[in-house]
Amino acid sequence: MKSLTPSKLKELGFFPVCKVSDLREKQGKRFFINETEIALFKVKENIYALNNVCPHQHSPILFDGFIEDGFIVCPAHGWEFNLEDGKQPSGRKGVDSYEVELLNEEVYVKVIKKSLNW
Ligand code: FES
Repeated sequence: MKSLTPSKLKELGFFPVCKVSDLREKQGKRFFINETEIALFKVKENIYALNNVCPHQHSPILFDGFIEDGFIVCPAHGWEFNLEDGKQPSGRKGVDSYEVELLNEEVYVKVIKKSLNW
């Protein structure tokens, strides 16, 4: 997306979350956008945003997991979620994923509540 401005991003539903430099390679960080808890992950030049709450025991701990082959592995019991779309390796629904945009070294995330009911 070119010619984005902060106000355009806001209009599109994106919220500024942090600076790119606040994120460390392969170390998740959690944030709240309104009442949604998200986990951001930086892998090389990509930044991914997933819901931080592991659906196994509804624990807000995914940010603390480790990254392996494009998946975030929950630190509690090892459930895995694709960084791109939040799905589990079997293709089963997992956690919500969110769109990310970068502007002026700032990370913006668009949180829309989806209905992944467990
Ligand atoms: S709480 Fe995440 S795998 Fe159990």
